[in-house]
Amino acid sequence: MSIATANFGYSLQGKKAKGNNYFRLSKNQKLRWKDLFTHVGIVAPSGVGKTAGILLPNLLSKNLAPCSKIIFDPKGEIYNLTSRFRESLGEKCILYEPLGHNNKHGYNILEQCTEFQEVRALAENMLNASIEKIKDTTFIELSKPLLTAILLHLWYLKDAGLNNINTALSMLLLPMSELEKNFANNPDKRVYQQFLLFKQGGDSEATMSCMKLSVATALQLYSDPRLAKSTATSTFNAADIRKTPTNLYIKYSFAKADYLRPFLNVFLSQLLEKSCFDNPEYELLFMVDEVQNIGRIQSIDKYLNIGRHYGMSIILAMQNITKMYDIYGRDQTMTILNGLQTKIVGCGISDLDFLNYISLLGSDTEVNEVENGKNIKKSKKLMTTDEIRRMQDDECLIVNSNNKYIKDRIYYYYNDVRLMDNALRGLVWI
Ligand SMILES: Nc1ncnc2c1ncn2[C@@H]1O[C@H](COP(=O)(O)OP(=O)(O)O)[C@@H](O)[C@H]1O
Ligand SMILES: [Mg+2]
Repeated sequence: MSIATANFGYSLQGKKAKGNNYFRLSKNQKLRWKDLFTHVGIVAPSGVGKTAGILLPNLLSKNLAPCSKIIFDPKGEIYNLTSRFRESLGEKCILYEPLGHNNKHGYNILEQCTEFQEVRALAENMLNASIEKIKDTTFIELSKPLLTAILLHLWYLKDAGLNNINTALSMLLLPMSELEKNFANNPDKRVYQQFLLFKQGGDSEATMSCMKLSVATALQLYSDPRLAKSTATSTFNAADIRKTPTNLYIKYSFAKADYLRPFLNVFLSQLLEKSCFDNPEYELLFMVDEVQNIGRIQSIDKYLNIGRHYGMSIILAMQNITKMYDIYGRDQTMTILNGLQTKIVGCGISDLDFLNYISLLGSDTEVNEVENGKNIKKSKKLMTTDEIRRMQDDECLIVNSNNKYIKDRIYYYYNDVRLMDNALRGLVWI
């Protein structure tokens, strides 16, 4: 028999979070508003309560300070349950569905660029996002000037409504001589310069064709009529999201996650880049549910590092770490986990590596064990991997930046009448 002389914390701050603004982590634990900006990670298998027990309770109550949010909401469930309530608080809600049928909102990644460097970065990101398909990184490098030339050329054709990625694909189908004529006539000499750079890289017709093909591969996704439509014009600006409290919900089906990944990657990089600036009017919560499904978020470690200085909090919910290893590799996954300074862990995790990581973060504790009728003291981890895995269904473990452990219950929104009321607000029953 063993009795742990456990040292679980009772509260993250040693005292209750003061003030009206906080992020609820669990039944009894609230994260102070300022601590939210050292980021939050939620790890639990499907059905444990990442959405219903952590993201929704916060979005359905008044505890969040007026702020803007970018919410990756794959199933659209967060939008359905929270947008009416957020609107009732005077916040703006935008649902952007890249593959939606009746999309009210559009976002044109090319139109969002405000200068040459951004167009060039977009071309680079688009090619990098297609690396799984293009495979050869040399071709990616050599193709960059061609895509930059095309995008920059189209960027100027705003009035004709041609400044979008779908048009870029049509342009690519033009013969090389025709393309050259177009670029040479562009008043911005950088367009032709980029094209000449591209021509220099292609030492033969065959290489040029391969480079053109790489660009076509990066653009192909945009020929999907639904994506072409949702990226043709912009109804909102990334740079404006923080001017008034705005909730931008991004919805896409799980089944289409792989297909849409190159776009999501580029879109996300741009959103992050453009919403990270000095002196914003409102703080920004960047919430990604099921983060393992959207592929690589470029420079996520950079934003985890600098986010705090720009009033940006990153909240990532994930099912397991193995999938994160596939996307980010082991080292970067660890950097991400370390960057998410408050971690909430649910029951039933089978990832041994992750269980070890969480267990090792905890301090050692003394255990009294009775052996042959004698009391002996032994040292053990506050929570062993097995104990973490075998927590009860609605139990969670919170580990904060001081590696303080707190065991608590998950706070499901549907067990709170007030939150349910907020979720159902304005629903019309037929
Ligand atoms: N409105 C609801 N009423 C009752 N149970 C619900 C409701 N919404 C979700 N649940 C249950 O809450 C649990 C957690 O669900 P969820 O938060 O969606 O899991 P996760 O996001 O971790 O995959 C599940 O068992 C689910 O069936
Ligand atoms: Mg969920």
